[in-house]
Amino acid sequence: MSENSGPKLRAELDGIPTYKPGKPAAAGGPVAYKLSSNENPYPPLPGVMEQVTAAAGSFNRYPDMACTGLMNELSDRFGVPLTHLATGTGSVGVAQSLIQATSGPGDEVMYAWRSFEAYPIITQISGATSVKVPLTAGEVHDLDAMAAAITDRTRLIFVCNPNNPTGTVVRRAELERFLDRVPSDVLVVLDEAYREFIRDTEVPDGIEIYRDRPNVCVLRTFSKAYGLAGLRVGFAVAHEPVAAALRKTAVPFGVSQLAQDAAVASLRAEDKLLGRVGSLVTERTRVLETLRGQGWTVPETQANFVWLRLGERTVDFAAACEKAGVVVRPFPGEGVRVTIGEDEANDLFLGAAEAFRKEL
Ligand SMILES: Cc1ncc(COP(=O)(O)O)c(C=O)c1O
Repeated sequence: MSENSGPKLRAELDGIPTYKPGKPAAAGGPVAYKLSSNENPYPPLPGVMEQVTAAAGSFNRYPDMACTGLMNELSDRFGVPLTHLATGTGSVGVAQSLIQATSGPGDEVMYAWRSFEAYPIITQISGATSVKVPLTAGEVHDLDAMAAAITDRTRLIFVCNPNNPTGTVVRRAELERFLDRVPSDVLVVLDEAYREFIRDTEVPDGIEIYRDRPNVCVLRTFSKAYGLAGLRVGFAVAHEPVAAALRKTAVPFGVSQLAQDAAVASLRAEDKLLGRVGSLVTERTRVLETLRGQGWTVPETQANFVWLRLGERTVDFAAACEKAGVVVRPFPGEGVRVTIGEDEANDLFLGAAEAFRKEL
C-alpha cells in the first residue's frame, strides 16, 4: 500500500474549471435583483404549483423512472416518436450524457467560444479534448471555421442557438450549409435552451432540422421560459441510437416526480407561460434599445439576456450594477451578461448602465 496516496482519482479531473453559478441577490441588503442566471422572474403558475404540491405528498416514493407521463406529453406536443426522446436532470444533465455516450480520451468535442460555460467542464470530465472556435467579431458562431476545424477525432459539436452569453443566433440557411459539411458520424447538438424567446423567423426550429438528419440532436429545457429551473428537467430529441444511448446513460430516477408533474402541467399551461415569455421579449426590446440609445454596442439578442462586451471594465461594471441593486453575470476580461428580469430590475440595470457610460 502506498503512503498518503488516498483514493486514485482520474487525472482528467485536474484543473477542471468549476461552474460558477450566477451570484444570488444579497440577502437583507438594499433592494436587489438577481439578473445573473437567466432565470424566469415570474413565480410558478398556480396550476403548476398545485401539481407540485400534490406530488410532494408522495416523495417517499421513487419517481416514475421512465418519465412516462412527460414523455407522452412531449411526444404529442412535438410530434416525435417516444423512441426519439430522452429526459434528464436539466438539459445540462442530458448534455453530459451525450458527451459520455460519444466521447472519451483522444476524442474532440467542439463548440463556439465564448458559449455555455458547462461545455468545457463536461467535456473535460469525460476525458475528451475541447476544441473552442472563437465567435466572429459580431459575436456569432463562426460556422465556416467550425466546419474547417472538424478532424477525424471530432465526436460531438455543440451549436448553442441562441448562444449563451451573447444571445446571438444562427439562421436556417447557414445552419443547413454547416450541417451538410459535418460528417454523418459526428453528432451535432443544437442546444436550444432559450428557444421560446426567439422572434427571428429565420432561426430554424431544431426539431424540424433533426427530422431528416440522423446525426442531429436537439436539447430543450424547462428551466428558462417554463420557469422550472429549481426542479431540474430537460430533454433531448434525437434519432436512434442516440436517444436510446441517452436513456441508457441517464442517472436512474434522476428526474423527480415533482419535476415530471410540473413539466406536464407547464406544457398544458403553455398559453399562460408563453404570455409571460412575450412580456419578457417586450422588455428585452426595451432594454436593448435603451442601452443602444445610451451609446452601448449590444449584439442583437434572441434570448432572455443581453451581452455587453466590456473587456477590462467588466468587473467594475458588475460592481456598479450591484451597488444599484442588480446582480449581473461578469466574465472577467470579456463582458457582462444581464438577464431580462422584472421591469423594476431592468430599470435599475439601465440606470446603472447609463451612469457608468457617462463616467467613461
Ligand atoms: C445554453 C444552455 N444550455 C443548457 C443550459 C442548462 O439548463 P438546465 O440544465 O437548467 O436545463 C443552460 C443554462 O444556463 C444554457 O444556458
